Amino acid sequence: MVPQENKITSKIQPVSLKALTERNVSLSIKREDLLHPVISGNKYRKLYFNIKEAKRLGKKILITFGGAFSNHILATAGAGEKFDFETIGIIRGDELGKNIEKTLSENPTLRAAHKMGMELKFVSRTEYRKKESPEFIKTLETLYPEAYILPEGGTNDLAIQGCEQIIDTETTQFDYICVAVGTGGTISGIIKASREKQTILGFPALKGNFLEEIVQNHVAPKSNWKLETAFHFGGYAKINEELITFINNFKIETGIQLDPVYTGKMMFGILKLIEKDYFPEHAKIIAIHTGGLQGIEGMNTLLNKKGLPLLNTEINE
Ligand SMILES: Cc1ncc(COP(=O)(O)O)c(C=O)c1O
Repeated sequence: MVPQENKITSKIQPVSLKALTERNVSLSIKREDLLHPVISGNKYRKLYFNIKEAKRLGKKILITFGGAFSNHILATAGAGEKFDFETIGIIRGDELGKNIEKTLSENPTLRAAHKMGMELKFVSRTEYRKKESPEFIKTLETLYPEAYILPEGGTNDLAIQGCEQIIDTETTQFDYICVAVGTGGTISGIIKASREKQTILGFPALKGNFLEEIVQNHVAPKSNWKLETAFHFGGYAKINEELITFINNFKIETGIQLDPVYTGKMMFGILKLIEKDYFPEHAKIIAIHTGGLQGIEGMNTLLNKKGLPLLNTEINE
């Protein structure tokens, strides 16, 4: 990742589904998820310039924030191990810190991050909310002068710059570029690097309209984008049987595994829009697979506890 100066590109995989031929549109998936086994998808892009910057500044530690199943937490742990940084993860939920052995045994994301050397610090939800305040950051900087601090979800200006690299010459042939949205960093990079004639569609994985303004601030004056806000399934990491069935069927039909928090919701949304004739005939659509597959095991543990059907990881590509 870091020593390599050339822009890395991921493969584009066309998918064939009955719904596509019926509506006379095409759909391909850009397999950013295959860029790296741990620093997967948009995490690779977001960390790329940040790791370079941390090295340039001579920093020795990466500190970041996340929830208990965060893709970004695991990717940061992976980047630390690979590029020789100590890592500290500030995790939302002080209850998880009460019995660390139990937490690690039950949570595959934190277990893997811990195994890769990440020091986990569990904080209360109230404390966690302060993570972006200047005072909190100042305290961290004083406590850890050798640390490079990455925000929750990894989104900052360098991360957006990294996400611009998702767009390559092959991507310019598509009319629509679809991507899942969390903090808005990934879509912002894509919009910035897109051609004016392309439309970028974001599928927020969270409820609420606050992302519009965030993305707008990152990408102005570009306006060739839209957020499709009807596919969050009730909010962040909320899923139901319909989504589970959709993800499992999509894997059977295409061989491609989607995650339940981001890319599954995006793909569900894309296919619903196709069904509603949202796209003009002959539209060429590309969906960005931003990874997140590490979260499936943790989600299955929760589904199992609730007696819901599980995400099927048995079928291999
Ligand atoms: C797998 C996956 N896809 C999409 C996103 C959304 O990216 P962003 O937070 O940059 O909007 C995330 C969150 O970082 C993610 O983990």
